[in-house]
Amino acid sequence: MNTEKEIKRVTTKALSLLKKKGIKISALTAYDFITAKLLDEAGIDLILVGDSLSNVFQGNETTLPVTMDEMIYHTKAVTKAADRAMVVVDMPFMSYQLGIDDGFRNAGRIMKETSAGGVKLEGGQRVAETIRKITEAGIPVMGHVGLTPQSIHQFGSYRERGRDKEEADEILTDAKVIEEAGAFAIVLEKIPAALAKRVTESVSVPTIGIGAGFYCDGQILVTPDMLGLNLEFHPRFVRHYLKLANEINTAVKKYIKDVRSKNFPNESESY
Ligand code: KIV
Repeated sequence: MNTEKEIKRVTTKALSLLKKKGIKISALTAYDFITAKLLDEAGIDLILVGDSLSNVFQGNETTLPVTMDEMIYHTKAVTKAADRAMVVVDMPFMSYQLGIDDGFRNAGRIMKETSAGGVKLEGGQRVAETIRKITEAGIPVMGHVGLTPQSIHQFGSYRERGRDKEEADEILTDAKVIEEAGAFAIVLEKIPAALAKRVTESVSVPTIGIGAGFYCDGQILVTPDMLGLNLEFHPRFVRHYLKLANEINTAVKKYIKDVRSKNFPNESESY
């Protein structure tokens, strides 16, 4: 199955089919039109407007500060560019923690205002009823278990989760419960590969891993990380497909030199 040719628009059904056929799902984040266009044209299956935009776009230390309005603003730019990829939007911190109805209303607002294909929210058993209510309204929900960055102050660090048996069993239960509540896919973040394998084999919906090893049904990375835009940030699960920071530095230095030496613009670059 050539996924790029056969799938005109990636839907929850298409993702489920990919899992059944053993074809790995590719996912990346985007927060703007041009990046989303490049990812879509390259054939990515899923674009996540992640709340990681708080870190990589806004420069915050955590994902907590980003707001509903900001997520919606960025998603509108992304959905205009994505012709084939499914666009999923992170529900930001405090947009669903206040209660089921609040989460339901905010998920509806995201869908109404952005043309996205679904929402993502973090957590297991404690958000299961919120997931149920949102999916019952026809809104696809992606779950997210393991290291859930919106709970960083509770965890105290970004170390991997599920290393001991108790925590591993809880993550497995979380995944099963949110599948039962209606999640169409589940992000597994920073958990041991063996645990991700157990989860992937225990649920019928696709698992999308980040720092969760090879056995997940798909993989996601934060795009600026995999492009090497910040070379100082290099946890073991990030592969730098480019070292774009170096290339941009070289290009900008060359531009500065050309401007100062009056080499830019030349005659053919002028009107
Ligand atoms: O916000 C984000 O980019 C995410 C991914 C890391 C899965 O949630």
